Amino acid sequence: MKNIILIGFMGVGKGSVAREVIKHSNYIAIDTDDLVESMTNKKIKAIFEDEGESYFRELEKNLSTWLENSVSDTLISTGGGFYKVKNLKKIGIVVLLDSPFDAIIKRIKEHPNAAKKLKKRPLLQDLKKAKELYRQRRPEYLELADIVIDVTDKSALNCSKELLKKVKKYA
Ligand code: S3P
Repeated sequence: MKNIILIGFMGVGKGSVAREVIKHSNYIAIDTDDLVESMTNKKIKAIFEDEGESYFRELEKNLSTWLENSVSDTLISTGGGFYKVKNLKKIGIVVLLDSPFDAIIKRIKEHPNAAKKLKKRPLLQDLKKAKELYRQRRPEYLELADIVIDVTDKSALNCSKELLKKVKKYA
């Protein structure tokens, strides 16, 4: 099986969809943010505060080389900015989880752990800036995606079913 690489804006539900995909397939799941945190033994928020965003992007870049060379049969969830690595398309089938900015923010705010979800994401602290980032990134996400799944008002389970169905064509 080729890797599946899940991209999309912060809070769109990459983690939730990944958890459903692994329940209903033979994929193993990993997450680039989790890998960065274990590589550095630090939380993303602390990396941004102590070393800055550009250092975080370097870590993502190093990770992308490792993913391309060493990982297979895996569903890789990525942080919202990971798509900028140069070898993204070489890592696997790129699946975009897509939703309008306002629907993403609504989704986060309705979550029982909303405060924690917002706090851990340095680039979601200022919603005006985050909206601008979304506006810049969305066309780039669409350009890179082999498969696009509109996740608005859909359960993670339904999104995972749609994903597995669409991915079959690329296997
Ligand atoms: C980022 C998204 C975050 C995390 C970091 C930067 C981004 O991951 O990688 O805070 O640039 O969009 P999530 O998409 O899981 O929130």
